[in-house]
Amino acid sequence: MSTKGINTLALHAGQQPDPTTGSRTVPIYQTASYVFKSTEHAANLFALEEFGNIYTRLMNPTTDVFEQRVAALEGGTGALGVASGQAAISYALLAITRLGDEIVAANNLYGGTYQLFHHTFPKLGRTVKFVDSRDPEAFRKAITPKTRAVYVETIGNPKLDVPDFEAISKIAHENDIPLVVDNTVGVGFGIKGGLEPGKKFIESVKLLSHLANIGDSKSLVIHPASTTHQQLAPEEQRETGVTEDYIRLSIGLEDVEDIKADIDQALKQAVV
Ligand SMILES: Cc1ncc(COP(=O)(O)O)c(C=O)c1O
Repeated sequence: MSTKGINTLALHAGQQPDPTTGSRTVPIYQTASYVFKSTEHAANLFALEEFGNIYTRLMNPTTDVFEQRVAALEGGTGALGVASGQAAISYALLAITRLGDEIVAANNLYGGTYQLFHHTFPKLGRTVKFVDSRDPEAFRKAITPKTRAVYVETIGNPKLDVPDFEAISKIAHENDIPLVVDNTVGVGFGIKGGLEPGKKFIESVKLLSHLANIGDSKSLVIHPASTTHQQLAPEEQRETGVTEDYIRLSIGLEDVEDIKADIDQALKQAVV
């Protein structure tokens, strides 16, 4: 792992000033393919005897900086950049499982991931067993000889509970199974009165934006029970931590006083 601090790594890891132009910012290489220097160079690249760019689906210098930076920040040996969270989860789990294999997953997952595991993975011949995220022993009990991965989120979205990583990783590793962790982060709280005040709160915010994602530079808000988690049955909603009073906030980089003022005025209108 690098000895540099996390802020330095976030700014510099994986990047050299562009060798052709000297550009300090990472250039966006909008190319699909790369000119080979010679027939020998091309042959070496395809034979994996020399490292270099062949085709953007395989590697791209802009994406490469991102991947090296994430690996450095996470203390990892490598990283792969893909276009969405669900793609990352699919790539990671499809790579380590085969037809007929099983995955043991926490039951407090992000709605999109829950749907992916519940509906799509079985069609691909992968069975996902959901267990109580708060009970490490439940993970142990669900592991069978077919289990190839144990899966949790660092901070459950939207329940915001943190699993006992040490206990769960010990159980996974005792069984020679990797622990796969989704490290997306969120922030949230319940509103007095449930559904209707929840909706009114969302309609009343002015600075916060009402939308589906988290982790933006701008502050965001959503009511999971009627949006991201609406397709789940009431019992499934409860398991994932989604209650009717639940409002999910993702706080951005605005001045904290402005954020607080917006939340205060919206709460005053919503909770009477
Ligand atoms: C825990 C978690 N994982 C993944 C994602 C993102 O997945 P995707 O980029 O496919 O929308 C989210 C989005 O809110 C999330 O909360």
